Amino acid sequence: MSTPSLLILAGDGIGPEVMGEVRKVIDWYGANRGLSFNVSEGLVGGASYDAHGTPLTDETMARAQDVDAVLLGAVGGPAYDDLDFSVKPERGLLRLRKEMDLFANLRPAQCFDALADFSSLKREVVAGLDIMIVRELTSGIYFGEPRGIQDDNEGGRVGINTQRYTTNEIRRVARSAFELARRRSNKVCSMEKANVMESGILWREEVTWVHDNEYPDVELSHMYADAGAMQLCRWPKQFDVIVTDNLFGDILSDAAAMLTGSLGMLPSASLGAPMANGRPKALYEPVHGSAPDITGLGKANPIACILSFAMALRYSFDQGDEAARLENAVEAVLASGARTADLLGPEGGAPINTSQMGDAIVSALDASIR
Ligand code: IPM
Ligand code: MG
Repeated sequence: MSTPSLLILAGDGIGPEVMGEVRKVIDWYGANRGLSFNVSEGLVGGASYDAHGTPLTDETMARAQDVDAVLLGAVGGPAYDDLDFSVKPERGLLRLRKEMDLFANLRPAQCFDALADFSSLKREVVAGLDIMIVRELTSGIYFGEPRGIQDDNEGGRVGINTQRYTTNEIRRVARSAFELARRRSNKVCSMEKANVMESGILWREEVTWVHDNEYPDVELSHMYADAGAMQLCRWPKQFDVIVTDNLFGDILSDAAAMLTGSLGMLPSASLGAPMANGRPKALYEPVHGSAPDITGLGKANPIACILSFAMALRYSFDQGDEAARLENAVEAVLASGARTADLLGPEGGAPINTSQMGDAIVSALDASIR
């Protein structure tokens, strides 16, 4: 098989810093595991706006469509707050998701044992936590028409967004969730607001249809998304796979991230339909944002971005064992007490910097083959 291709879009803020550490890990796999990648780079977000006046050029979009997987850092920052909506950094990311049709966004929330005391919740609530949020990523209120800000003809204005879901959009993301559940604890909880939204009623009916007709062996439950948020904080271990829409998934996954101790820990995979080579269209990115407050200070935690590469090994390149090797290396480094600033508990201690964390993970990879 030819060398798989990776497009790195490091983006803004801490994106380039954390991606630098991922590069060390990629190089390690090439040098030590015979896993080489054809790596190219491009611009997205504010970095692309600065260079080209747009958060994503057509040329970069075309390259993203062409590679086996895209690795993305983060987009956005205060310098771009006043830009017109159509050229904001976030539009670059949303265009990638939409045009690559990456409908299933996998956001695992796993609590590493070494960090169980660091969560804002009690140890017994989060220790051993391992849940997977599957967020619909290409539709719903993020993309629905009509949208915009208009005069309301009474001297004021009106802001409009539209929540819209079709049968096919709901069924395909539901299938992704049921497939994942079969490889985990075989439980799916679907979240919507069927009590107040028609799109929520349709969501519940279509998820149920997929379950009854294609996955009757998987246990399915339904929850209103607000109650789901409450249950995530009360007793998150009741969940295995959660499937939900684009906006609820955005919010619930940030909440789930905090259960694990730090937003700096959470990776994600955004997957679409299989390409001609059988691999899914795919983009991997940390759940955290560009963190402008700590940009350039060496404080960023590269683990979420490194674990996103582990997801790429698993979901794009069929290297589940190598993905587990990388996850175990992260676990070993955390168990050794190494902490970036975001992972220091109230008791404090001396943090290591971004690059030291990357080096520690590479050393743990070395140890795994000795
Ligand atoms: C996320 C982010 C994005 C979103 C932003 C950066 C557009 O919050 O990936 O969760 O809202 O989807
Ligand atoms: Mg978000």
